[in-house]
Amino acid sequence: MSPSVSCLCLHGRSTSLVLELPPGEAPIWRYWGPGLKGQVPHALRDARPLPSFMLDFDQPLTLVPSFGVGWFGQSALLAHRQGQAFAQAFTQCEAHWEQPEQAVRVVLTDPVAQIELTVYLRMDPHSDVLTMRSALRNLGQSPLDVQWLASGTLLLPGQVVGVRSYAGQHNHEFLLQTDRLSRSMWRRESRRGRTSHDCFPGAVVTTEGSTDSSGLVYGAHLAWSGNHQQTIEWLHDAQYQWQLGEWLAPGEGLLAAGATLQTPELVASCSMQGLNGLAANFHAELRSRLKWPGGQMRPRPVHLNTWEGFYFDVYPEKVKALATAAAGVGVERFVLDDGWFHGRHHDRAALGDWWPDETKFPQGLGDLVAHVNDLGMEFGLWFEPEMINPDSDLYRAHPDWALQLAGRPLITARNQLVLDISRPEVSDYLFGKIDALLSAQPIRYIKWDHNRDLTTAGLHDGTAGYRAQVHAAYALFDRIRKAHPEVEIESCSGGGGRIDFAVLRHTHRVWTSDCIDAMSRVAIQRGFLQFFPPEIMGAHVGSARAHTTGRTQSMAFRAAVALPGHLGVELDARILSEADAAELKACIQMYKKLRDHLHHGQVWLGSLADGIVWQAHGEADANGNAADVLLLVYRTQPTHHRYTPRLPLPMLDADAQYRIHQLLPEGVVLPTGAHNTAPFFDALNTADGVVIDGGWLRHSGLPLPRMQAETAFIVGMKRV
Ligand code: DGJ
Repeated sequence: MSPSVSCLCLHGRSTSLVLELPPGEAPIWRYWGPGLKGQVPHALRDARPLPSFMLDFDQPLTLVPSFGVGWFGQSALLAHRQGQAFAQAFTQCEAHWEQPEQAVRVVLTDPVAQIELTVYLRMDPHSDVLTMRSALRNLGQSPLDVQWLASGTLLLPGQVVGVRSYAGQHNHEFLLQTDRLSRSMWRRESRRGRTSHDCFPGAVVTTEGSTDSSGLVYGAHLAWSGNHQQTIEWLHDAQYQWQLGEWLAPGEGLLAAGATLQTPELVASCSMQGLNGLAANFHAELRSRLKWPGGQMRPRPVHLNTWEGFYFDVYPEKVKALATAAAGVGVERFVLDDGWFHGRHHDRAALGDWWPDETKFPQGLGDLVAHVNDLGMEFGLWFEPEMINPDSDLYRAHPDWALQLAGRPLITARNQLVLDISRPEVSDYLFGKIDALLSAQPIRYIKWDHNRDLTTAGLHDGTAGYRAQVHAAYALFDRIRKAHPEVEIESCSGGGGRIDFAVLRHTHRVWTSDCIDAMSRVAIQRGFLQFFPPEIMGAHVGSARAHTTGRTQSMAFRAAVALPGHLGVELDARILSEADAAELKACIQMYKKLRDHLHHGQVWLGSLADGIVWQAHGEADANGNAADVLLLVYRTQPTHHRYTPRLPLPMLDADAQYRIHQLLPEGVVLPTGAHNTAPFFDALNTADGVVIDGGWLRHSGLPLPRMQAETAFIVGMKRV
């Protein structure tokens, strides 16, 4: 038995990661989970007898499991040199601490295969988020063909039982999919060239009995806006390994002598406070990364986006009238969506021709921008820089600028092709056009769209360009932000096709979905909130009859669902009835009062039987209890109960008391007895509200009114 075990330990706020360092090998995965202190008790191999009929050498899961030298599971690396050097084994390992117990660089060398792999690990002491990435250097004289290089390999304990991942499509992103883990491999892949609507690059792994607010859960996400894959594989010691990384198209991993392949970053975390604890970790991590103009987030301004109100019909007089109506209900940022540029009257032409359409804006955008600014609103503008329509001046001048494959047909989607923005002349052209507009007018916001998957993504030399395209997009974002640091950018991709931690290093908001139907949005937004905080979640009040689903909902419900996100309006505000305009205005006022509270601190999600889901926003103290909570309860289905069940609220302090008030948009007064004459609900609307012990609220629950389907009940609860 080894006297003391050499290990690398990383500690977060309440989680730890331990890797064992046997000499002459890659680090062995020992542990990732709830915080551990003290000595590692024994070397792994000292405490696991060899099974029968196995290799005479025990090969456990390492930080970089590799094929061909005794590991039979998924390899973190698949590479060869013209068929040679297909097996890799790292026999030299050096660990360099960049920050003790928090950030380490592990340099692994295989002198036989002539490769060096550096794995960067960092555990954030505040968010408990582990970040990992890998860099593979070709030390040989010949090219190395890398087919797969995981950003990281994670160890999951044997007690994990299920995976929550996200499927979906345009108009229904973050569709929850739950799978049971077993000895069969779990795998998700996406080759659409963007983060995708249907396969979010991440998942949550649950243990038996874990819930929204309790139990051990693990989460991981690949911070990358291109192709990706992840696998969870059962191991013969009843644990699991979880790998995430970029899916490389053939040839994309071809490394010349001396070259290095850098992976995207993997962000991962675990929590003993269930799904909500995990979400809080990811939210904290993302918040620490967002780069706001001026250094910090200002209150999220209410948007009006012209798309669903006008589509391509953006003629200045109409648009100005819309802006006037928008200002009247309290909008603070007016965003001119698609349809404003040269020849853009429908979705069949013009992408690439980024100057104002001469028939709509003969004098340019200046007059409109001034009108919007005079109304006290900021101006934002829509672009789809990476795209080109074959029917455009740009395509007529430069047909070779589109990604394409010689001898293959051009495949359009929404009538458009994708520009090869990794070519300097193409990104220079785009930068020039966008820069000219931003320099000419006080445009403070870009809605940056990307409306198709990548196919036939061949670069000029015929090689695959998926990876190059993503890096070039990040570079173009950065170039524009550097030239216009006051501008915020929204990542949109036919709704939520490009939502990930990497694009959010360059942007400030995402368009969550093109579906603004409030009922659909309840589920979409809940999926989103597992990884991303509410202040970057574009959430708009659409027209009563939702354009994408045909369903109709009340203004109060549409507004209540959009309220906790980054609120916007997406309808023709000119033609609202007086009553609707007044109600919308009151909801916007309510958002302005609540946004500071909604957009800081933690979000707890939960559900009750009987068609009720809820979410609460507030700061949690060191014990995980909240002092001041905003609670939004949504009834999505009609009740099946005679009496509505009470709602237990696990984030409240059992030893405190809470004063509770119902929150309503100003001017909306519920008639006494509106909730079927129960006095409790009338009291919630008095100046004193109702005071209840936290223990009761936590364990027995808050009484809920009888609500009709598709209605919301919002209360504030303050510790007294
Ligand atoms: C797709 C986006 O998701 C919509 O919001 C809108 O901007 C359209 N594109 C415009 O073409």
